[in-house]
Amino acid sequence: MSHHADPASFRAAASRFSTGVTVVTSSDPDGAPVGMTANSFTTVSMQPPTVLVSLKRGRTWQAVSTSGRYAVNVLAASDVAICRHFAGAPLAQGALALDERGGFFLLPQAIAQFGCEVVNAVEIADHTLFIGEVRWCRHQDGLPLAFYASCFRNGLGAEIRPSEALAYPAEGWTL
Ligand SMILES: Cc1cc2nc3c(=O)[nH]c(=O)nc-3n(C[C@H](O)[C@H](O)[C@H](O)COP(=O)(O)O)c2cc1C
Repeated sequence: MSHHADPASFRAAASRFSTGVTVVTSSDPDGAPVGMTANSFTTVSMQPPTVLVSLKRGRTWQAVSTSGRYAVNVLAASDVAICRHFAGAPLAQGALALDERGGFFLLPQAIAQFGCEVVNAVEIADHTLFIGEVRWCRHQDGLPLAFYASCFRNGLGAEIRPSEALAYPAEGWTL
């Protein structure tokens, strides 16, 4: 008999993996932008540059499935309202501006942007892993929005320098 972790425990444990927050955008069949907040973004390979996002079925999923393209916008700490907008708590109409570049929709204040073409889509339960080759990307300096233990955080804390990192393994750890 198969056995799964208790959903509440799984959610709580998974939330201890701190992430950044992105908005994944795509275009619907009329060419109009759609987008959703996603923290499932991860890099997959350097050569060729490849990333993935895990999206549940919905408007953005549909647009990515149909167009075969998506953009990933990495949010800054000051973009919580934008994060909420793309997670179902819309801002007032006209409060949000998206740029368009080569058919990708971009948030100008994002600290990184990736324009991707889907090269593989893997269906898992009610989500699809959209694996995308990165056709272009750019970045700018800024404090990232972080997500940890189901709360938004301002950046990622202080840098741990290599000399300090040596002191970090706690007693009993095996490296
Ligand atoms: C911080 C945060 C991260 C999220 N990450 C994901 C994700 O990785 N994948 C996903 O399917 N939904 C994720 N969601 C939920 C979607 O943003 C939300 O369901 C959205 O309204 C779906 O939009 P759609 O109707 O265009 O599909 C996240 C929400 C928040 C607040």
